Amino acid sequence: MGRLAVLISGRGSNLQALIDAIADGRLDAEIATVISDRPGALGLDRARQAGIPTQVLPWLGEKRRVEYFQNMQRVLQEADVELVVLAGFLRILPMELVRAFPQRIINIHPSLLPAFPGLNAQRQALEYGVRITGCTVHFVDEGLDSGPIIIQKPVPVYDYDTEASLAERILAKEHEALPQAVALVLSKQWQIRGRRVVCKC
Ligand code: GAR
Repeated sequence: MGRLAVLISGRGSNLQALIDAIADGRLDAEIATVISDRPGALGLDRARQAGIPTQVLPWLGEKRRVEYFQNMQRVLQEADVELVVLAGFLRILPMELVRAFPQRIINIHPSLLPAFPGLNAQRQALEYGVRITGCTVHFVDEGLDSGPIIIQKPVPVYDYDTEASLAERILAKEHEALPQAVALVLSKQWQIRGRRVVCKC
């Protein structure tokens, strides 16, 4: 059974999707710890309700960025997890942390990457005028939302969409994609060829 650390910054609905997938047997994993950079994150309550240990590492400010992520690296190493899942964790990890967990950190992002990386991906999609957007689960590398892609799911954009309505439609797909991607990664039935995540079989 794969041990996970889940990093969050807010609502934690993707964390909830993992908790639910584990509870109903779709995902053979254990969430060893949930870590938030915000003390008030709603996702912390979701974790506590599910009996999962939580840790708050409050953001120390840009000037103490190095110290912050050194501390996080220590916490993750102590948690002894197989995979680190960024589920709405809205800070960019430093190179050192990414290198300490090679191919062991994944992120969910609300667009079809490489389109619309960074913050407000749903707003970017609406402003650009695409007719199809979606979500991506990818390995974290040293760039911004740029690592090899594990799973993507498309979502249509409608004329009457607002940022909120589009975000909600994408979120429903995120909740399917994240547990599937975690299961795939834990299965070890994949390899990275160039930029592509392909089946080992
Ligand atoms: C999700 O839409 C996730 O894709 C996005 O934050 C939201 C978190 O929701 N992440 C990013 O934009 C990362 N660049 P949640 O807290 O309910 O899971």
